[in-house]
Amino acid sequence: MKKVIVIHGPNLNFTGIREPDIYGGRTLDDINKNILSEAETLGICAEVFQSNYEGAIIDKLQECHMLGFDGVIINPGAFTHYSYALHDAIAGVNMPAVEVHLSNIHKRDEFRRKSVTAPACIGQICGFGEYGYIMALNALNTRFENEKN
Ligand code: DQA
Repeated sequence: MKKVIVIHGPNLNFTGIREPDIYGGRTLDDINKNILSEAETLGICAEVFQSNYEGAIIDKLQECHMLGFDGVIINPGAFTHYSYALHDAIAGVNMPAVEVHLSNIHKRDEFRRKSVTAPACIGQICGFGEYGYIMALNALNTRFENEKN
């Protein structure tokens, strides 16, 4: 069974509380339950992780690499816009990564339009709320299926 780590970066533990008009009213727990249920349907073993700390996210990526995980879904929160360390961590591990944002970062503040982490990922999904994680799981699943053929 393919193993996927789903990483939520800073402030995403406050989803459902913070700016619900932008990020939606559902909590991270609600969102994670939905992710885990979709993963089960697809036959993927998914694990969820959240941290407000850049180093903890890097440690998690490296740990999952060492454990032989097959893919990453990551919402790096505001780190997206300036963390070269996170870019390098994603680029340095042996797992395809999909970047997800709840909001459409391209139609918000100027500073959000740039992602320094996306170039280390196979793709970016943004603007579809929590459904973005479902799309990302399906994108990775299709990739896993294609690898078999
Ligand atoms: C976010 C977008 C970021 O710009 C912001 O800093 C977040 C959440 C999103 O999911 O839309 O914390 O990653």
